[in-house]
Amino acid sequence: MPMSNNVQTADWKAEKHVPAIECPDAVKPGEMFEVKVALGKAAEHPNTTEHHIAWIRVFFRPDGDKFAYDVGYFAFNAHGASVAGANKGSVYTHYTSAFMMKVDRPGTLHAVACCNIHGLWESEKRLALK
Ligand code: FE2
Repeated sequence: MPMSNNVQTADWKAEKHVPAIECPDAVKPGEMFEVKVALGKAAEHPNTTEHHIAWIRVFFRPDGDKFAYDVGYFAFNAHGASVAGANKGSVYTHYTSAFMMKVDRPGTLHAVACCNIHGLWESEKRLALK
């Protein structure tokens, strides 16, 4: 069974595991723009030692290309763990990240989030050129 069969999709407005991708709908070729990926915009995902979002990875597939490019990997490593026990720590990373990128062709952004117990969840967003 291909790995892709293990990546689930849903609308981020209805499913708390799906990352929302925020960026302009259209950008100028070669001009940097910001992309924000985050969960919890519609429904909060737990952020505990036992249950949390471990990472979000972002890919871009330009129209006409066979392969997608890996454009970002964002790991969220603090979830309340401490020597006193689970959820006794004072540091929690939130599952939100932003980065800059540029493209010279339209295409599709794909974001994949990894919940430590509920697996992989994907969303996508079209990106046009101005
Ligand atoms: Fe989960």
